[in-house]
Amino acid sequence: MINKVLTVSLTFACLAIITATSVNAANVTEGKIIAEKSCQTCHGMDGIATSPVAANLSGQQEVYLLNQLKKFRSGKREDPQMSIIIKMLNDADMENVAAYYSGIKISVKMPE
Ligand code: HEC
Repeated sequence: MINKVLTVSLTFACLAIITATSVNAANVTEGKIIAEKSCQTCHGMDGIATSPVAANLSGQQEVYLLNQLKKFRSGKREDPQMSIIIKMLNDADMENVAAYYSGIKISVKMPE
């Protein structure tokens, strides 16, 4: 009996963990769609900025990117362009697009 109760509770505990992970797991494919629609004009699909005032995003830390997006949305960070764009994104969109741009691999070359 105790074993059965234990098994059932363990099963639920595992299910809860699996559900929590899949809700939080950022989706790179979804992020790419957002980048195509809303970001590439200024940040490029490869995350290299198309204008000197925009930022390169490729290879950037995922947490850093997400934090900046949250700051733009809350108004803690302001920019005439980003502050408008960010209104089109919900929480999942921000996580997904941060995962997409941070997932682009870059290599660095030190100055001579
Ligand atoms: C119309 C041009 C434009 C578009 C479109 C645009 N951005 Fe930006 N983005 C900028 C500019 C300009 C900056 C620099 C802001 C500043 O100087 O503070 C910036 C900055 C950022 C930063 C901060 C980078 C850093 O190093 O701190 C992130 C992250 C970012 N953009 C993500 C996005 C995402 C994701 C999208 C698409 C949903 C997007 N941007 C669409 C122009 C744009």
